[in-house]
This record gives sequence, C-alpha cells and structure tokens, in this order.
Amino acid sequence: MTDTEPKTADEHREDGAPQEAADAPVVPSATTDPPPVVEFKGVTKTYSAGKKNAFTAIRDINFRVEDRPDTGEFVAVLGPSGCGKSTLLRLIAGLKPQHPATEGEVLVDGEQVEGPGPDRGMVFQDYTSFDNRTVLDNVAFGLECRGTGGEEREARSREWIGRVGLDVDKDADKYPYQLSGGMRQRVAIARSLVLHPRIILMDEPFGALDPMTRFRMQDLLVGLWRHLEATVFFVTHSIEEAVYLGERIYLLSSSPGTILQEIEVPPPDRPAQEMQREASFVDTVFGIRETIERLEIEAEATNG
Ligand SMILES: Nc1ncnc2c1ncn2[C@@H]1O[C@H](COP(=O)(O)OP(=O)(O)OP(=O)(O)O)[C@@H](O)[C@H]1O
Ligand SMILES: [Mg+2]
Repeated sequence: MTDTEPKTADEHREDGAPQEAADAPVVPSATTDPPPVVEFKGVTKTYSAGKKNAFTAIRDINFRVEDRPDTGEFVAVLGPSGCGKSTLLRLIAGLKPQHPATEGEVLVDGEQVEGPGPDRGMVFQDYTSFDNRTVLDNVAFGLECRGTGGEEREARSREWIGRVGLDVDKDADKYPYQLSGGMRQRVAIARSLVLHPRIILMDEPFGALDPMTRFRMQDLLVGLWRHLEATVFFVTHSIEEAVYLGERIYLLSSSPGTILQEIEVPPPDRPAQEMQREASFVDTVFGIRETIERLEIEAEATNG
C-alpha cells in the first residue's frame, strides 16, 4: 500500500493494536462516488440555545462514514457519561429536541436530515416495546405502519422473531412483561431490523444486561449485521464492547463532546466471550484506555 491509497477496514495491524485512522490520507473522490452514508460537518448542539440555561452538549463534530458497496461499516461511539453520545445518535435519527443541530450540517446520503425516516432504525437501551402488544404485534408494528399486508407482515415478523433467537411458537404471543430484559431487547432489535434500515442506530442497547447475556447479544448482533449489510452506529460506555463490535471507534471527550480520535480495530471474528479474553484483545482495550486518559488530560489542558 502506498501513502496515496486509502486505508480499508481489512488492513488492520496484526498485533491487534489500534490503528489510528485520523491521519489517513485524504483521497479526492471521483464525481461518480456515492456520498458518505453519514457525514457531520462542524456540528454543534446547544440545548436551550439563546436562553439563560443554554447548554452545549457536543461541539464542532466532524466525521464521514463512507458508503461501502454491499457491506456496511460498524462504528462504535465511545465516551464518558454525559459527553453527548445520545445527542449525536439522535441527530442522525432526526429526533427532537436533538434535531436540528444548532450549527453545522448532519447529512445522510449527502442530504440534510430533516427528521426521522425508514432508512434509519433506532434501538434504545430501555427495550422500547408497546406493553399492550404481543411480541408478534410489536415486531409487526413498523410493517403495519408501512401498510404491508397481513400475511406478509406476519410471515416477516415471525421470521425476525426467530432470527433474534426467540422461540416463535413459545414467545410470539407473550407480552413484554412476560419477558426477561435480554428477551425484550431481542424484541426491540427485531422491531427495528424487520424494516431493513440502511442505518442502524443503537444507544447502549446492552447496557442493562448481565455479562453473559451481553456476550450472547453481541454475538447475535454481529451475525445479524453481516446479514443486513447495514451501517451501524453503536453507542457504548464499554471499551471492551466497542473494541469487540466496532471496526472503527469514535472516542468522544467529556462534555461538550468532540471527537478526540478515530481508531480502527479488527472486526470480530470469534464469539464474544472467546475473543474478549485473548491477550491481544485485552492489550488493545488497555491501549485505548490509556489513549483516553492521555487525550482527556490534553483536552483539559487546552480548554483550561
Ligand atoms: N433535552 C435536553 N435538554 C437539555 N440538556 C440536555 C438534553 N438532553 C441532553 N442534555 C444534556 O446534554 C449532555 C449530553 O447528553 P447525552 O444524553 O447526549 O449524553 P450521553 O453521552 O448519551 O450520556 P449517557 O452515557 O449518560 O447516556 C448532558 O449533559 C445532558 O444533561
Ligand atoms: Mg446516552
């Protein structure tokens, strides 16, 4: 590879150490290149802008996630509590009051985000489901809104209930209160993915799960993602989770959040529990922890 060639996600260091992508060479794109899937240009979000209680949650965020034909990228967004991770994700989703940005541009496929759309699916931490709907009717909800006919709707919903590892015969008629946290999160994932969004936005979806269930859900997500070929933005506090799932990690500073660094890591190629106890994986996590500490100290010094 020469200096003028772009790095690809396949070109990872063999020692498992994070590879810094921030200084990757910028290659002028031909006019026929598709626009990035998601691009932030100088995005700042100030809540209650212009008022006494104005609060800037994220400041001058810039990044672009390129369109990779037939495969999406898995982007992990990592940062301390309150640094603006949910703000960033909800700006991509076009959800208020995060949308619209106070300054800058949020672009999806080269177009300014105007609000929510079927191209973007969101999965939240708190297993959002309709309490008064069965598992099947929860998963079918989006298709119903789209006007997909009864038979097809039920078939696709049942297929997705199975895909997320639930038992179609036993679980389809249950209500959310009859499910464990892990099962409810599977329903939430099926609800979103049954619609085949091109961009999947996940806000700490496994944050409330016990470690074993979390490993299982990480494995599930890797399998689903390969099948869907979607671009995933996955917000997490956990360095381990970001390193395992992500191909690219955006490290956010503490509030107001800004991107401290972009890091490329090898994609998952083994089950979560197995890979996460390997020495090279633990070294990578440790390296990123040190990077975060160093960058935080530098950022504090710069900001005074
Ligand atoms: N609607 C709002 N109005 C005013 N301030 C808000 C609003 N939503 C978030 N904030 C503030 O903006 C900052 C960033 O919030 P955000 O929810 O994006 O952080 P986060 O990184 O997702 O945190 P966590 O990891 O705890 O979920 C926080 O200080 C929060 O209090
Ligand atoms: Mg959050």
